[in-house]
Amino acid sequence: MSEDQPSALLVGTDVYAMRACLRTGIKPYVVHGPHLNDWGSMELPEGAVGIFAEDPTSIESILFSLRRAGATEREFLFVQTSDEEALVTVAALAKVLDLPTPVEADIALHFRDKWLQKQIVSAAGVDVAASQVIEDIQHLDPAGLADFGRAVLKPLAGAGTRNTSVVGSREELVATCQEYRRRGVPQRTFVLEEFITGDEWMVDGVVFDGELQFLSVGSYVEPCLTAVDSNRVLQLERFDPTADAGVYDLARPVVAAALRALGLRRGVFHMELFHQQDTGRLVFGECAARTGGGLIHESVEYKFGVDLGAAAIRCAAGVDPQVEPKVRPDSVSTIFLAGRPGTLIGRPSPAEIRALPGVEHVRLDLPYGFRMADSVADTTEGVGQVMLSGRTREEVRERREFLTQWFDERLTVVPTHADYPELRRWQQANWPDSVSPFGTYPRD
Ligand SMILES: Nc1ncnc2c1ncn2[C@@H]1O[C@H](COP(=O)(O)OP(=O)(O)OP(=O)(O)O)[C@@H](O)[C@H]1O
Ligand SMILES: [Mg+2]
Repeated sequence: MSEDQPSALLVGTDVYAMRACLRTGIKPYVVHGPHLNDWGSMELPEGAVGIFAEDPTSIESILFSLRRAGATEREFLFVQTSDEEALVTVAALAKVLDLPTPVEADIALHFRDKWLQKQIVSAAGVDVAASQVIEDIQHLDPAGLADFGRAVLKPLAGAGTRNTSVVGSREELVATCQEYRRRGVPQRTFVLEEFITGDEWMVDGVVFDGELQFLSVGSYVEPCLTAVDSNRVLQLERFDPTADAGVYDLARPVVAAALRALGLRRGVFHMELFHQQDTGRLVFGECAARTGGGLIHESVEYKFGVDLGAAAIRCAAGVDPQVEPKVRPDSVSTIFLAGRPGTLIGRPSPAEIRALPGVEHVRLDLPYGFRMADSVADTTEGVGQVMLSGRTREEVRERREFLTQWFDERLTVVPTHADYPELRRWQQANWPDSVSPFGTYPRD
């Protein structure tokens, strides 16, 4: 690698962004936090330079690390992040280092503060939930709040549907805030939003020069909050731009108006909308200036032939990504594989899962010995993730249901909270030959 090779500063370990840099001859300098060491499941690709920062969402931490690595003087082409929590930090870093970045500081705020975001989108005439800020849930004055009915309480700049609850009254709100304090929830500033009913859609796409260049609409099989509250993992589907043209006709103007109002000039986005089937009403949920999780990257690539990571990097470099979708008529869905409370000690191998009908992509995240929690706390939880395809949506649904049950039946988990007799019965059921019963008198 020559010293003159162009380089870019990436904050966070977005594999698609790193891959896109390496494919276009850009050397990625990747600022990453402790999770890479702690989790141990991922290595940086060859050609990338890792820079450890204690907290990659803190500008101080990043600057310490860059200085230590001697990278502050380097002439990076741009600085980019796909980590939502680092978005504003990276915008500030771009100013300090005088580097181009796709989402500049004033705009970055619009993609983080959920209350501010709704104010801006609403002012552009797009339907949003009524929303009010609670500055400090540990010092809540319920009398200071506007009246509300069924509402959602969530962190002002949270992610993954974590620490998010439905409350129906002031009493419930007070009790939930107290419970969050007891649990040591780190966030203090929350929004309280009117509860919006309906299906939850997602829109993933690309903006360049302020124009919506590409969009792919999908849906969560059940809303994220319903899934987390019911202890279920996420399942996602994609709509077809021809077969589901009505969905695209409904979504496109709303998405374009929201993005224009929020001021995204270039980059990728992941937007969530509520769709009310009876009235056809579409209500803006939220929008992030990053690619979506949950194998959305893979499913968009499968369905549209569009590499969102490559688009993100081209946008960051100021180059028109010239997205040209080539739509595949097949249906595609991605799912998280559910675990169970307890210690994981067995599960099907990636090859066994890959051999099932319609499986296009498998990623298993948890190592054997992992202690799985008693309940689902956020939308990123699961033993792994799978992308499935089929000729029709029905075929994909059937495959999804089959895989979910098939995987569950083959999952071996030492149950949490089991007493010794229960563990013995569990062992007897799973490995009858390994059991050694102890009789009072030796048998003949
Ligand atoms: N006003 C609302 N009405 C109904 N449901 C809501 C509302 N706000 C949030 N939700 C539910 O809670 C989930 C999480 O909220 P939101 O998307 O705002 O935060 P997030 O934690 O950033 O999400 P993500 O899981 O996309 O990172 C939503 O996906 C939706 O299911
Ligand atoms: Mg969301």
